[in-house]
Amino acid sequence: TEAPTKIIDRLKLEVLTLDKEMTESERAGFIDLFDRYLGGKSESIVWDKIKPPTKELLVPYAELEDVPSGDGAVKTLLNKLAVVKLNGGLGTTMGCTGPKSVIEVRNGKTFLDLIVEQIEHLNNTYGADVPLVLMNSFNTDEETAQIIKKYEDSKLKVLTFNQSRFPRVLKDDFTPWPAAKPGRTDKAAWYPPGHGDFYAAITDSGVLDKLVADGKEFIFLANTDNLGATVDLKILNHIVKSQIDYCMELTDKTLADVKGGTLISYEGHAQLLEIAQVPDEHVPEFKTIDKFKVFNTNNMWVNLKAIKNLLKGGKLKMEIIPNPKDVDGTQVLQLETAAGAAIRFFEKAGGCNVPRSRFLPVKGCSDLLLVQSDVYALKDGALVLNPARTIPKAPLIELSNEFKKVADFQKRIKSIPSIMELESLKVSGDVHFGKNVTLKGNVEIEAKKGEKIEIPDGAILADKKITSQADL
Ligand code: UTP
Repeated sequence: TEAPTKIIDRLKLEVLTLDKEMTESERAGFIDLFDRYLGGKSESIVWDKIKPPTKELLVPYAELEDVPSGDGAVKTLLNKLAVVKLNGGLGTTMGCTGPKSVIEVRNGKTFLDLIVEQIEHLNNTYGADVPLVLMNSFNTDEETAQIIKKYEDSKLKVLTFNQSRFPRVLKDDFTPWPAAKPGRTDKAAWYPPGHGDFYAAITDSGVLDKLVADGKEFIFLANTDNLGATVDLKILNHIVKSQIDYCMELTDKTLADVKGGTLISYEGHAQLLEIAQVPDEHVPEFKTIDKFKVFNTNNMWVNLKAIKNLLKGGKLKMEIIPNPKDVDGTQVLQLETAAGAAIRFFEKAGGCNVPRSRFLPVKGCSDLLLVQSDVYALKDGALVLNPARTIPKAPLIELSNEFKKVADFQKRIKSIPSIMELESLKVSGDVHFGKNVTLKGNVEIEAKKGEKIEIPDGAILADKKITSQADL
């Protein structure tokens, strides 16, 4: 087998042949990832050094100061801010072939439309000038460019930049796939290296400098699919007043989110602990909710100048996430990083323990059903729990594979059922919903293999288990 240093030397030569496809900083970033990965330079975590975050490190949201009420005070705060949405990933889990942000969520509006509406509302209310910045990738930029054309006449500034494009490598011998197949230009040979790439990409694209030149000091960074990630004035006030470099929003863990990364105090500094870093024997402990109480929502507030300084010093070396894949029968490896892992490199860094409402991600079609339903109401582009719902929690929804892709989900559900009084729903098999169906309490619908269940238009199902069409 080839020694790691040999592989790196070879990779350096191979990426040189991709000089038309990759920029110099992309080549450097790619080599850095593989160098760190193959060189095994990453230090592993010492379990006994892990301490729960203190109240200073993880500020409870309820203890944040009130936003100043003086004339123009909020405008001054807002004008220091830009909102960035991570829009480089494909919603592969939901069967999307383009950016997930173009899925229609409510009233014919997409994630992007809602984000634009939220920020426009904020700017109008306070006379502020918060721009929207989208980080795209080669997978999402064309479609996104088409979609955002409709905001050209809006007062809202929309800026975009692309994250890096790295070659996938063959798993056997680390040969960059595009170099292994000369002339191969199709997208499958390349990948966006995770949202940790954000820091380098916003800097290399010149967008960071442009924001700074426009007087922006902080960014609020979040996933496009998190409909709870609205601009929070209290958190903004907190980071501006305390001049915090990096603030991660974390929310209380439930038994359903035990896999999420958590905030720890490590040698006196804030650090994100991901399950992949946890030694096997401590995984059960990591998953408990009494020792590790909160998890990362991937909403982050970051100081722009701090990003620039860290990058200049070559200090942003986040943990590498190896992601092996089978792409049309070819075994490839892609190395990625995550934006939240950068927290430990920022000097003044910590977290804020936020309410669950700030975490409303759409990871699958069961989430989509929920956010499209009457459990939520739309207010200025933001989703709020419908005050008419008397059950305090959102219903638990479980849909089987038949509903996995957005296209199938839409085909099988003629109109989103009313679930205002629903506690839980489990659907499996070949099930179809008619129009104006109402579901209440605990409902289970299970079509046996080879059978089909059609819920008729206008049906009302309350605390029912249905296993065949005859049950209806
Ligand atoms: P994730 O990859 O964590 O989740 O991206 P996802 O969107 O559910 O993706 P699938 O369904 O597993 O494929 C979280 C956010 O980060 C962005 C995504 O667009 C999403 O908003 N992202 C991810 C990037 O911008 N770049 C990347 O390289 C990866």
